[in-house]
Amino acid sequence: MPTLAAGWLRVAMTYAPVNPSDLIPVTGAYAHRIDLPATAGYEGVGHVIEAADGLSHWLGRRVLPLRGEGTWQFIVDCPASHAVCVPETVEDQIAARAYINPLAAWTMLRRWPVRNKTVLLSGAGSNCADYLGHWAYLQGAAHVFGIYRSQSRLTRMRELGIEPVSIGDESHIELAARRADITFDALGGGVASHVIASMPEASVFVGYGLLSGLPIRMPGKRSASYARFHLREHLPGAGDGGMDEAFAQIWPRLKDFDMAPAQIFPARRWREAIEYQASPGAVKPVLDLTDF
Ligand SMILES: NC(=O)c1ccc[n+]([C@@H]2O[C@H](COP(=O)([O-])OP(=O)(O)OC[C@H]3O[C@@H](n4cnc5c(N)ncnc54)[C@H](OP(=O)(O)O)[C@@H]3O)[C@@H](O)[C@H]2O)c1
Repeated sequence: MPTLAAGWLRVAMTYAPVNPSDLIPVTGAYAHRIDLPATAGYEGVGHVIEAADGLSHWLGRRVLPLRGEGTWQFIVDCPASHAVCVPETVEDQIAARAYINPLAAWTMLRRWPVRNKTVLLSGAGSNCADYLGHWAYLQGAAHVFGIYRSQSRLTRMRELGIEPVSIGDESHIELAARRADITFDALGGGVASHVIASMPEASVFVGYGLLSGLPIRMPGKRSASYARFHLREHLPGAGDGGMDEAFAQIWPRLKDFDMAPAQIFPARRWREAIEYQASPGAVKPVLDLTDF
């Protein structure tokens, strides 16, 4: 291992999930922002095994090593300023998935509050849509629709109070879109194009994912305003209390939320985990980085 840089921590990883967001750079879609060689993985959990001078108080702590190196490694170096301590009450498998989707959903709902509004989610059944739906109701949303692909998502959506709309049912999608004050779209492509064309005056369409792999065709005339969301553009800086303050909001919310299950893959089976992630109805694959 190279010598640890000043201000950095070295973390032995325990778990890291395989998220669609991790795979975007792997496919080449972020080619302009990626310097190769690189390691994939935006989130995960581990414990500090080495600390640069003056940081020995971090040794042994359980942390999320964020915004450093890719997390699909056994050992990850990250700046101490970007490491987030995990409370004792949060299990490893929850902590490993506490960043990308919870923080994105929480930040979007702060940026576009939904009190008394009708909300439409696409990509329903995904982890991120689960948080958006559940926390939208906690914020006072009047109703939440969710456009889903796999039947296996229905039970959980209903438990969360999200009214299911099948991705294949165009008339139902149009009906939901006509009622939506705000859409959080993770799909892009034909569904998103249909939704944005059908939304009413003064509504907002927020695109935050492109699971279909296809762009949105903007209608010539539309009533909804359009916004894009990228978590990296909204990460809390020192001025807003930094990551620790953001996570002070996230940890209690995760404690009160029954996170969708994960499927654990030993790290050596990472290829299988990636393949599995792309299969309809998959639960979240998580790499066990202690098992190699
Ligand atoms: N912009 C940001 O900052 C930000 C932050 C966090 C997440 N995201 C985005 O949020 C989305 C969800 O992420 P996640 O981690 O929550 O996902 P996830 O839990 O892994 O679930 C993936 C979901 O995508 C659905 N899906 C995949 N390909 C599809 C297609 N071609 N057509 C329709 N549905 C498709 C799956 O459908 P099935 O139900 O059939 O399996 C599944 O419900 C991703 O696009 C991710 O990039 C963006």
